[in-house]
Amino acid sequence: MTTRRLVLTRSAAIVGAASTGLLLPQIVRAQGNKVRVGLMLPYTGTYAQLGVAIENGVRMAIQEKGGKLGGREIEWFKVDDESEPSKGVENASRLVQRDKVDVLIGTVHSGVQMGIQKVVRDSGTLCIIPNAGAHAATRALCAPNVFRTSFTNSQPTLALGKAMVDRGHKKAVWITHKYAAGDEAFEGFRDSYTKAGGTVVKELGLPFPQVEFQALLTEIAALKPDAVACFFAGGAAAKFIRDYAAAGLKGKIALYGSGFLTEGVLDAAGPAADGIITTMHYSDSLDTPRNKQFRLAYATTFRSQPDVYAVQGYDSGQLLVQGAAAVKGDLNNKQALYKAMESAVIDSPRGKWTMSKSHNPVQDMYLRVVENKENKVLGIAVKALADSGAGCKMG
Ligand code: BEZ
Repeated sequence: MTTRRLVLTRSAAIVGAASTGLLLPQIVRAQGNKVRVGLMLPYTGTYAQLGVAIENGVRMAIQEKGGKLGGREIEWFKVDDESEPSKGVENASRLVQRDKVDVLIGTVHSGVQMGIQKVVRDSGTLCIIPNAGAHAATRALCAPNVFRTSFTNSQPTLALGKAMVDRGHKKAVWITHKYAAGDEAFEGFRDSYTKAGGTVVKELGLPFPQVEFQALLTEIAALKPDAVACFFAGGAAAKFIRDYAAAGLKGKIALYGSGFLTEGVLDAAGPAADGIITTMHYSDSLDTPRNKQFRLAYATTFRSQPDVYAVQGYDSGQLLVQGAAAVKGDLNNKQALYKAMESAVIDSPRGKWTMSKSHNPVQDMYLRVVENKENKVLGIAVKALADSGAGCKMG
């Protein structure tokens, strides 16, 4: 609170002085300084691979536009948040208070995001969320300085329920890591599935980041639902897919998921992943020049295939490039910066998207199936899906 007041007071003073011409040399000097970009991402643990893909995407988008932001060089600061919610505030404070970053890009895990949200709301630091789907970040706790380039947790699953019922799967078990991401993904699933005529026969869960699935898979076998729907991501998703097949459920009980289940894990999951149907705002096989160009450039630069996390990182970089260009590198010109970011049209590998009023992407949701280690697009499940933004008051 104190810090935010300080920032406002300072910028008000600058506006006053600048209009008299007194502070011009300082402003020019500030613009000559490097832009301080903080990355708060998981580089260890279940979501480590997601953090790396996001960073790759951010750097690639900026590099494609000359490697600068609004004409200014960049100084990078990095923190491994370990997907550990209890350290969220401390880690975000390191970037904001100690490193004095101009923008904090982070993070992946919804619980950690709540720590970042507190720190950036208090300090007024620009924040771009490149993954974490926590509803609150763009609903009740939304803020003018917080923009998300990924999704809300219920967006992908709002597209899933009807696809399952259309395939004749009317009785489902839901299984997830029990924390905000899984619980909010369930909200979207429950709403879309019951609306389409399906029944959720049981909700199962285990604490993040545990991966001892055996007892739960035994329970699913006994329940004999038509289908299973789930939220898992990263290393846990690969293990869940393998364990599901090893338990003899593959081919007997259809497996569906929020698309994170099959993102970045298809090599690790192997043939056990074939046939899994998911919904997501991206698909490897999108047959557009933009996606093909992105995939080729990413694979050439990083010697690995991009996934949805790389796309979200790339779009975070694109959003920052556009915002910084609009204010010619003066990220302290917050009003103009936020206006430019709010009205940005992001030409993404996923398809063009825009920001909702609460700063979350309005985007198409694709229905996909895994075939030969690729998420193949089957069609658009929901066009231009916006999150409700319920309770968001930009103030
Ligand atoms: C989350 O915690 O919000 C999350 C993590 C991985 C994939 C998707 C969402």
